[in-house]
Amino acid sequence: MDDSPLEQNKQQETWSGRFNEPVSELVQRYTASIGFDQRLAEYDIQGSLAHAQMLATQGIISTEDFTAIKQGLSQIRNEILNHQFTWSQQLEDVHLNIEKRLTVIIGDAGKRLHTGRSRNDQVATDIRLFLRASIDDIVGLIKAMQQALLNLAQRHIHTVMPGFTHLQVAQPISFGHHLMAYYEMLKRDVERLIDCRKRVNQLPLGAAALAGTSYPINRELVAQLLNFEGVCKNSLDAVSDRDFAIEFCACASVIMTHLSRMSEEFIIWMNPLFGFIQLADRFCTGSSIMPQKKNPDVPELVRGKTGRINGHLVALLTLMKAQPLAYNKDNQEDKEPLFDTVDTLTDTLRIYADMLTGIQVNQDAMRQSALRGYATATDLADYLVKKGIPFRDAHEMVAKTVQYAEQKGCDLNDLELNELQQFSSSIESDIFIHLTLQGSMESRNHTGATAPCQVQRAIDEARQWLAGIS
Ligand code: ARG
Repeated sequence: MDDSPLEQNKQQETWSGRFNEPVSELVQRYTASIGFDQRLAEYDIQGSLAHAQMLATQGIISTEDFTAIKQGLSQIRNEILNHQFTWSQQLEDVHLNIEKRLTVIIGDAGKRLHTGRSRNDQVATDIRLFLRASIDDIVGLIKAMQQALLNLAQRHIHTVMPGFTHLQVAQPISFGHHLMAYYEMLKRDVERLIDCRKRVNQLPLGAAALAGTSYPINRELVAQLLNFEGVCKNSLDAVSDRDFAIEFCACASVIMTHLSRMSEEFIIWMNPLFGFIQLADRFCTGSSIMPQKKNPDVPELVRGKTGRINGHLVALLTLMKAQPLAYNKDNQEDKEPLFDTVDTLTDTLRIYADMLTGIQVNQDAMRQSALRGYATATDLADYLVKKGIPFRDAHEMVAKTVQYAEQKGCDLNDLELNELQQFSSSIESDIFIHLTLQGSMESRNHTGATAPCQVQRAIDEARQWLAGIS
């Protein structure tokens, strides 16, 4: 093939008719998106098929042209799947690459496909189709992770651990209850995604470049063919806004934030000073110099990748903020952050569900840690309040009792009745049940609290929700 500048320019004949000189190699590379948007190919084909069917139904192209387009696109689909398709940077993006190939295969009918359409509404459609499918996958993966959480929580409804505030031992809780906190966060994440999906699932096609088209198109038919819930109601908005992608990235940031918090806890709990859990070896690495080490690499990376996902959200917000209506090429920059968000989130969720199934729990370490931290001090105060002492006074008495036990180097539960009575004469022998970790945990028995029977209830409700019953 002739490589002269004019010949190169001819290759970009889809839009170069009025240009006198070709773009430089650098500009071509700078403006091309084919390196990353080729992953939209399947959605581009689906969109084109629906558009062509509508054009034929409306009598805008002939049935023969539609048949040829269908056959050509199906051949292209196979070529892509079999890695036989040659992507060209000169053809800029996925849309022009496919259209050009279609024209090579079927001739003039291929050139008619773009009637009443622009790459502006075409790309917006492709991204929405991609994102809709990605949301469905991600929702499935979150639910799988919730299932893994439920299974672990079920095994540990009676396992006592110290609950923390300020990362200081606060009150005894069920480990199952702690895990169920993450189930709740993930449930809201699913709800947010399902809500976001409604706004993703609107059809931009028909908006054409920005103003709509003069052909007698039927947008509702295209929406129906592509399973969109409706059509974007304003053509300028349809081609220019990417708020649905921003919204998805915001959802992704919240999900990653939840996973990052869980990762931080795993990292702390795996530290031998805590020793609450062990992760399966396949999620950890050793040190090349310190033989004793087992490093929680996977949770650390999840925590680290959260920064990257937050970065993508900020990238999209910044991309959008100063764009005048309608489409601007800036929008081509929406894809890499979006794709990386989907990929990172997908891998993270997959790895997490697997990691949860391989967690070993050291119940004794959890119990010892709760005992060392005077986790039942609030229970002693509550006991005194129930005997008629004002809470503030009870708080003071218990603080003194804790100080005494601390000096003695024992737990509240290890003090003799007469020792406890030095701090309040209202203390009687029925106190001891309240001072055990189990007693304390079981006493918090109402909706949302840590008593094992309540945790069981939460798990049962969760199972119903996951099964789609409630
Ligand atoms: N590759 C472009 C994008 O991702 C497609 C739309 C280009 N439209 C245009 N008028 N240059 O946004």
